[in-house]
Amino acid sequence: MKPTLSPLLSELEQRAAKHAELSITRLFEWEPDRLQRMSAAAAGITLDFSKQCLDRGTLDLLGRLADSAGVAAARDAMLAGDIVNPTEQRAVLHTALRAPGGAAHARLVSEVQERMAALVEATADGELLGATGARFTDVVNIGIGGSHLGPQLACDALRYQADGPLRCHFLANVDGGEFDRITAGLDPRSTLFIIASKSFTTAETRLNAHSARAWLSAALGVDADVGRHFVAVTANTERAVEFGIDAGRVYPMWDWVGGRYSMWSAIGLPIALGAGMVAFRELLAGAAEMDQHFATASTLGNLPMLLGVIGVWNLNCLGAESYAVVPYDDRLRYLPDYLQQLEMESNGKRVGLDNAVLDHHTAAVTWGGLGTNAQHAFFQLLHQGTRFIPVDFVVALQHPAGRRAHHDALVANCFAQAEALMHGRRFDEAVDEHGIDLGRHRTTPGNRPSSMLVLDELTPRTLGALIALYEHKTLVQSVIWNINAFDQWGVELGKVLAADILAELDDPARTQRHDPSTAALIARYRASRGA
Ligand code: F6P
Repeated sequence: MKPTLSPLLSELEQRAAKHAELSITRLFEWEPDRLQRMSAAAAGITLDFSKQCLDRGTLDLLGRLADSAGVAAARDAMLAGDIVNPTEQRAVLHTALRAPGGAAHARLVSEVQERMAALVEATADGELLGATGARFTDVVNIGIGGSHLGPQLACDALRYQADGPLRCHFLANVDGGEFDRITAGLDPRSTLFIIASKSFTTAETRLNAHSARAWLSAALGVDADVGRHFVAVTANTERAVEFGIDAGRVYPMWDWVGGRYSMWSAIGLPIALGAGMVAFRELLAGAAEMDQHFATASTLGNLPMLLGVIGVWNLNCLGAESYAVVPYDDRLRYLPDYLQQLEMESNGKRVGLDNAVLDHHTAAVTWGGLGTNAQHAFFQLLHQGTRFIPVDFVVALQHPAGRRAHHDALVANCFAQAEALMHGRRFDEAVDEHGIDLGRHRTTPGNRPSSMLVLDELTPRTLGALIALYEHKTLVQSVIWNINAFDQWGVELGKVLAADILAELDDPARTQRHDPSTAALIARYRASRGA
């Protein structure tokens, strides 16, 4: 029988009770080799998890947990292209998109990459022109979720290296305000749109695509060949062609690439157009390096496995229901958003692979923000709040802007926050000058865990490795929790209900049975639009 979390959990829970009395600072005294033992590096990223609330014995036990849960076998099955998404009967092969030749689907992958490279070149050389003969200067990616967050993160993160021909913009939300904001500064004559949708049925993307076409026609004239301003990335070529995109302008993806794991496919087209094809290939190479590390390193020297088991320990044993991701690098400002979809859409599940309702938590709430801004927003709660919230700090040693004073201050703040969370300030220190009452308010309990992810430098390569690291962490956790990380049935319900209510707004005869609150909201909205 496949082992579940439970056999080792009680042992870990006993240790967790003991850890409530342990201080991380003390652990550094008791375990002289703690830093070496609790650090690991791969692909230009060093993970220092010595400030986590766990001792050597717990770490060994967590390693055993990963091993006995079958993480290595699940990883190998995924890499081999087995059906590891059983509820959709699909293989999960985003790793094949970045593997050097010879991997599964190598021919398909390289053909699409060649076509992407050709598009970048044609755009740069002015061979690909808009309806009026103007060169393209800007590209708007219309897509949402996995068809948005990865490319947005990467285009923003690689801004210093950007060598591609176009400026990138992202239109995801169905909110017309976003459409207006994104198109406000753009010239329709020189704007290219990518309709990025694996399914090509996503309501937000389809509506934005229609509005983009109307925006172009309104500016360029109804007779203008606005089709020249569109390309599509999809696994559903038929629907893209139906929409009016020439089949030759459709860049395929496949059902073995999950939406939130798809930035390595043609969904990465904005990255290639914005940062350049060389940067895109480097991004893939960095991810491949992390894949190789994940596939070969021992459990306790394996970055994804370590991040995975630390998260399980914090959530399932120490009761930390959320964790914060705090990059100290403006270029990584979209990382928390990206990780929210990756981790919560993948592992926000309540039924196990054996169809039984789970008796343990899955997927901590992932949230976060940018350092140092976050210090002046939510860090108070991290330091002195009643909740216990671990943090992943992410920082790069080098910064290409050459603003030494800024980078020094940024890095100093990052290190100081991790130290302060761990050490805190004792009552006797706080009380000294301020008396008992104020001393209590000024006491900071400390012992709040964090991991530090240090990038030698933020390059396309290390960015690829960083994202792949969290992808694999997500897999590791799903195996321990005995869930399928690759489906997302829960998202469907809201989509169906929204479509019903939308139809009802125009046609009251289609009124559904609603609860009184929803019925009143719909009626009020209909009245406000004069229906
Ligand atoms: O949010 C649900 C979801 O299905 C995601 O998994 C996916 O990334 C997103 O919608 C967009 O889907 P598509 O690429 O098919 O438009």
